[in-house]
This record gives sequence, structure tokens and C-alpha cells, in this order.
Amino acid sequence: MAAKTMSAGEIRSSFLEFFRSKGHEIVPSSPVVLPADPSLLFVNAGMNQFKDIFLGARASAYRRVANSQKCIRVSGKHNDLEEVGHDTYHHTFFEMLGNWSFGDYYKRESIQWGWELLTTVWRLPKERLWATVYKEDEEAAAIWRDITNIEPSHVLRFGEKDNFWEMGETGPCGPCSEIHFDRTEGGCGPEMVNAGRPEVIEIWNHVFIQYNRRADGSLEELPSKHVDTGMGLERVSAVIQGRPSNYDTDLFMPIIRAVERVSGRSYVAADAVAMRVIADHLRALAFAMADGVMPSNEGRGYVLRRLLRRAVRYGRRLGMTQPFMAELFPTLEAAMGEAYPELKDRAREIVRALRAEETSFAETLDRGIETFEETASRVLAGGQTVFPGEEAFRLYDTYGFPLDLTMVMAAEKGLTVDQAAFDRSMEAQRRRARGARKAAASPAHADLVSDLVSRGLRTVFTGYRTLEQNATVIGVVRVTGESVERVEALAEGEEGLLLLSETPFYAEKGGQLGDHGHIASEGGRFDVRDTRSPAEGIVFHVGRIAKGRVAEGQTVRAVVTDARRQALARHHTATHLLQYALRTVVGTGVSQAGSYVGPDRLRFDFNWFEALSKEQVDAVERMVNELIMADDPVTTTEMALKDIPGSGIIALFDEKYGDTVRVVSVNGYSRELCGGTHVARTGEIGAFRILAESSIASGVRRIEAAAGLAAYELARNDRALLEALAARLSVAPSELPARMEAMTAQIKSLEKELRERERAALLGRAETIAKGARDVKGVRLAVAALEEVSGEALQCLAEAVLAGMGSGVVVLGSGVAGGKAQFVGAISRDLVERGLHAGRLIKEVARVAGGSGGGQPGLARAGGKDAAKVPEAIASAADTLVAML
Ligand code: ALA
Repeated sequence: MAAKTMSAGEIRSSFLEFFRSKGHEIVPSSPVVLPADPSLLFVNAGMNQFKDIFLGARASAYRRVANSQKCIRVSGKHNDLEEVGHDTYHHTFFEMLGNWSFGDYYKRESIQWGWELLTTVWRLPKERLWATVYKEDEEAAAIWRDITNIEPSHVLRFGEKDNFWEMGETGPCGPCSEIHFDRTEGGCGPEMVNAGRPEVIEIWNHVFIQYNRRADGSLEELPSKHVDTGMGLERVSAVIQGRPSNYDTDLFMPIIRAVERVSGRSYVAADAVAMRVIADHLRALAFAMADGVMPSNEGRGYVLRRLLRRAVRYGRRLGMTQPFMAELFPTLEAAMGEAYPELKDRAREIVRALRAEETSFAETLDRGIETFEETASRVLAGGQTVFPGEEAFRLYDTYGFPLDLTMVMAAEKGLTVDQAAFDRSMEAQRRRARGARKAAASPAHADLVSDLVSRGLRTVFTGYRTLEQNATVIGVVRVTGESVERVEALAEGEEGLLLLSETPFYAEKGGQLGDHGHIASEGGRFDVRDTRSPAEGIVFHVGRIAKGRVAEGQTVRAVVTDARRQALARHHTATHLLQYALRTVVGTGVSQAGSYVGPDRLRFDFNWFEALSKEQVDAVERMVNELIMADDPVTTTEMALKDIPGSGIIALFDEKYGDTVRVVSVNGYSRELCGGTHVARTGEIGAFRILAESSIASGVRRIEAAAGLAAYELARNDRALLEALAARLSVAPSELPARMEAMTAQIKSLEKELRERERAALLGRAETIAKGARDVKGVRLAVAALEEVSGEALQCLAEAVLAGMGSGVVVLGSGVAGGKAQFVGAISRDLVERGLHAGRLIKEVARVAGGSGGGQPGLARAGGKDAAKVPEAIASAADTLVAML
């Protein structure tokens, strides 16, 4: 096939085919997150998944592998976010074609095969290719010269910045040799290589891994030497397809066309940057979501949120004010779903999450833009060029504007953002939060803990296998109010903390509450009402001496309350089952955000972008109950932390783990890193009920549930409630719905009847009042004082009276002794035309009862302070009328 007509997909397969023919095993791309590598937010290079192999910590089944790896570069050492869209060859998401040697071939083959693929298979013109080597790497320079036919003057040397590649702050690294492609018109000179020019770009990096960069900055020689290469598929596609920009390749054009369709704009200069940013961010968002990361307020989720908000902001520039990212996704799915089926599998979730996230951002975006514009105009009017960092922080804090978004917006107006001030505001807010937390824990307590730690006091935890344990008291602390004090012994009635050499008591951790129980000494007993671990290895038994005394040095028996521990274990294992069920029923994108495990309730907080449907909640509850009935075994094992990546075991990204971790497995289907206490078989949980599903923050949902006896108690309470209701209504519980319906219908019809009667009564009264009208200088005047009729009813009545009279004046008052007075005046149209005015009339009337008011010429209402004066006020109406005529 002529290289020029190759699609990106064909280029990808041709690369893999080439290395297969050189003895390489083709392996899949890893997900874009490797949860157990905390040095890394997202996978940023093909070699990440092989880090441990390079370091000699893990053996590989193959010595040569190749793949196409999904990479995201938006944070840490490799962050290309700022370049995206503004240049033509950096992306937040890209595919890295790579080949690796694990202690097998080295520089020679790597360079030789690289050259062969580029110039022989893909037939790139050699006069357009340049190679760079690390300044001290004579070996690589010689290989280029001796075994390839590259122009000798096209081999250049560079220093650390360009030719020493490192994965991150720590990890595998080594000198590298890069291949650059020249697409200038007449051919470039050496000064244009590595000069940040879009016409001369790096396409392939060959890294010769031989060191490990340690945390202290030193380099450690690795046991073997390895090769790690990476070639951006987007770049090499642009080069092979003869396009000036990565965006002009078949990887991006379909998405750009879709942006054109949705926005109604064209991909030309003025709008090109915005369209590229949107196309780029859509890919990063979709691929990260397909691997289970959802937008949220922390860590990876926040990176996604920032990307989405940036894209939305650029969308505004194209005049798009409605959510549009979800509309673009199907185009991406069609283009890449074949190579990456996870896009297809997760399509529904991705679309829903994009839409939900975009909709919720749109609500604050407009207000944020307004605030931004105000500040920016003020700054510009004052002839300044710096956008205040405090304002940027306010935009961040109140409107969710990521700093980089504000920076882009500021740059468009020729302003820079005062980042130092932004950081200060951020730090000040953190300090306030910390201060609030600290105030809760007394300083005396903190001093005590650091004293105990420095004395080397440690407790061995035995509570996974036993609930009773003989131990020596190694520390006694008396607690009186705020103060804590180490003492020899505690006497009857005293409150305090006991430290033991060994303990079966589980201290609150990982959401599971601490154990209760007692500690018995000879002649003494300490009741434990909480167990806490304020520092690694330090366990506080919190409680009070119920009898006798307990002293340091004594041998005691520590006994955990069995029933409570059982209840805690049931809820903890149920929490694991719940997480499993959520990931099965709702989506594997569900990830834990927090949990609480008590003896009668559990709470599970998780990252998800929308409320669960009733059907989903029911299905989750049902599934957990089925797993309980299956009576599956729950086992725990220890594993090395480094073996966790790729094992499918759930770990919390933010949790600190030691080198060895404890894995709790329910029959192999649910596997989580967990230090908690669990039942031995799921059947012990007994029963499970979901009590509520709710939102606790943007993108974070909460499920509250009960297990075991607590779940049974809930069912029993429900039944008791039903029975009580049924008894009150004298029906069987099953007849309640029908009975309730009948009652509701009955109430409705009674209400209707009541309203009709009131109307009839009112009309009857209106007739009587109208009949009582008398003549005042040729005008018919009807008045009445009533008791406790609402203003509205009074008005209705006045209108009814007037209707009965035809032409006339009506004045009504109402009120109960001790309360307030109400008045209504109504005047027929003919009299209004003669100049009478109800507002003026009723004002005078109300004045008698200490009030005021007014209104229209035909109808007016007023209030008064003294209801006792209503009859008097009504009686004054005739005189007022005379005065008005
Ligand atoms: N790991 C090397 C890079 O990312 C190949 O450039």
C-alpha cells in the first residue's frame, strides 16, 4: 500500500505488524489509570504499565512487546494542556505506538528497526529525517552513523532537557534518541530541530532505560538495560498523510466536522483553535470515562471537570450555549470504537455523564463570565494588565472556574493572572479549614500522642482472629474534661485511656467504627466505649473504670463485645457487596468516595453523576440479598502493593497503603484492599435493605443501608406501622391502598360539598344584606358587620350584594372582639361614573377602627386595628357617603 493513502488505523496496524515480525508480543493498551501507582494521575507513556519490570520488581512473560497505548498528558511532569489547540501537535489525549525490550535488545536494534520502519516500510524521505542523541551517548551516535543511511549531518547532540527521558519525579529513565521530521518547504537546517517549530516535529523517541531516579534525586543503575520507544500516532499520521496539522488527519477531522455541524460554524482561522480544543478534550474525556474516571471535585475527576469546562468555554466562542459534548461523542465512538471497544461498552454512561456535567456547569458559567467581565473591564479601565488573583480565586471557589480557564480568558484580553495571589487565597482557605478541624482536637491530646509515639509504645492488633486476649497494660491516661495526664493507675469512676501490649479491639478506621467491650484486671474492670488509633500502632481504649482499679504493668484480659463486632462485620461485608452490586448494575464507573460502617447502619458514598433510578436501587438491593443467600466465603490474603496494578482489585486512590496490603475477597468476584473486620461467609449478613439514595455533592451520591438484625428490625417496624394503620382503619393491611383511595375520594367530595354550601350561605346572606339597603340622598347603601369572615370571603360577599342591588354602594366589615378589623367597599359602575370612589370611602370607614387602606373606585379593601369598632365604623359609612355626594 502506498504509505500516503494509509489511514491512521492502518498506520497503527502496520506498526504492530512490523514489530510482530521482529519477535514482539502485541499487548493491549492499559487503562488510562493505574490506581495503585500514586506517582501518576493518568498514564502518560506506553511504558507506565511496565515500570515494575524495568525496575526489576516484576518479571515479564515476554522480552519483547509492542502496543498502542492510550495516554493522557494533563498533569505532573508531562503536561501539554496549555499547548493544546494553539499548536498543531500537542494533545491531552493521544495514542503512543511503542516497542519495548526488557533486558533483551538494546540501542542497535532499536535504532535499526526504527529507521527501517520509517524509511523502508512507510517510505518517508530520508532527507527529511533528523536524529538527536544525548550529548554523551557516543554509542548511539555511532550506530546512527554506521548502520543507517541517514545524512551524517542530520545526527545532532542535545543535553538532558531534550535527550534524557524520565517518566516522572521518580522512576525508570535514561538517555534517549529522537527522530524528527522536517516539513518546511525547502528543507530545514540543524538550528530548527528542537526549536519548538510546528514544521519540524519530533515523531519518535527511543529511550534507553538504564537508571531509576530515586526520591532523593539520585540515579540508581538498574540490574538490566531496556528499550522503551514511543511514537505519537497523531503526529506520524499527519506526516504520512502529508497534512500540516494533526487535526487535519482522519483521527480528528470527523470530530471537527461534527463540531461544525453542531455549531453551524466552519473550521477556518477564527474558529479553528476552539474547534481543536473541543475535539481534543472530547477524546480525553471520553477515553478517561471509558476507563471509569468520572468528573468530580478531586484528583483525576477534577482534571476531567477542568477539561470539560474548558471545552464548554470554547464552545461559547463558537456560539454554542446548549450542551454539545454529548452530541459529538457518537462521531468519536464511530471512529475509534473498533480499536477501543470500551468506548462502545460505556457509550451510554459517557453520554449521560457528559450531558449532566455540562448542564450543571452551564448554570454557573454565565454568572461567572459576567463577574469575570466586570473585573476585567475594571482592570483595563485602570490601565492595568494584571487580573487580580483574589478574583481568580473567587471565580474558582464560587463559579467553579479552573485557574487555567480564567488564565485563557484573561489572555484573550491581554491580561495575565496574578497566580501568587491566587495561591495565597487558596492557602488561606485551606488554613481556615485546617484551623476548624484542629480546634476540635485538643492540643493536650496531640502532645500526649506524640509523647507516646516517641517513647516507642506500640500495640499488636490480634482482632482478626480473636475477640479475647491477655495483655499487659503499657500505658494509663486519665482524662478530666479537656486535660489528659499519664498516671500509674485509674480508680473506680475515673475516665481515661488504656494502652495494651496486644489488643483484639479494632480501632476506628476505613469507615468502620471502633470496638466496644471491657478490660478486666484482677479486681478491676474498665468499660471500653470506643477504640481509636491516633497514630500508627497506638491504640486508645477509651472508657471508664466500672469497678476497682487498673494499673500500668498489670496483666489484663481484653474482651470485645461479640454482638456489636458481629453487627459491624455484617455491615462491612455488606458494604463490599453493595459496591460490587453498584458496579455491576449501575456501571463500573462507580467508585468509592467514602464510607461509614456502624453496627446498625452503613453509608456508602460514591462518584456517580446522576441519581439512580428506582429500578437501579431495587436491582442493587436485590443483588446484594442474592449474594447473601449464596453464602459465599469471605477470605483475606496479603499481597505486595506492587502486584495490585492491573489485578482488578479495588483500591482507594487517596488511601495510604504500606508495601504489603490486605485484600478482602468475596468468592473472588469482589476484591478490595481493606483492613476491616468481616464475616466469614456472606450468609451471616442475613438480610440487607437500602434506606435511601441521595446526593451529597456534585457528582457524589450516597446510599444508606442496613444489614443483619438492623435490617430485620426495620422490616419489623414497617410491619408494625402497617398493622397500626390498618387497625385504625379497621381493614387488613393488604386492603390499605383501596381504603386510602376510597378515603381520598370521600374527602374530595366532602370538600366540594362544603364549598357549595358556603357559597349558598354567602348568597343567602347577600340577599338579606341587599334587602336591608337604605336610601342616602338618592343612592342605595347596604352595610353589614359580620363576624370573622376572611378578606376574600368578605369581598365575594360584597360583590354578590352589589350584584343583587344593581346600582348602589356596599360597605361590609368583619372582625372578632380582640382581633383585627377588615373592611370592603364596593360601588356600582354608574355611581363610579358619577364620581364616587370606593377607595376613598373605605379609607374613611377604616379610620374609625384605627386603620387605613384604599383601592380602586369600584372595589376597595382596608384593615383596622380594633375589631370592636367595626359596627361603629360601618355606621359611619352613611355620613361619609353624604359628604362625598
Ligand atoms: N517513554 C518515552 C516517551 O514517552 C518513549 O517519550
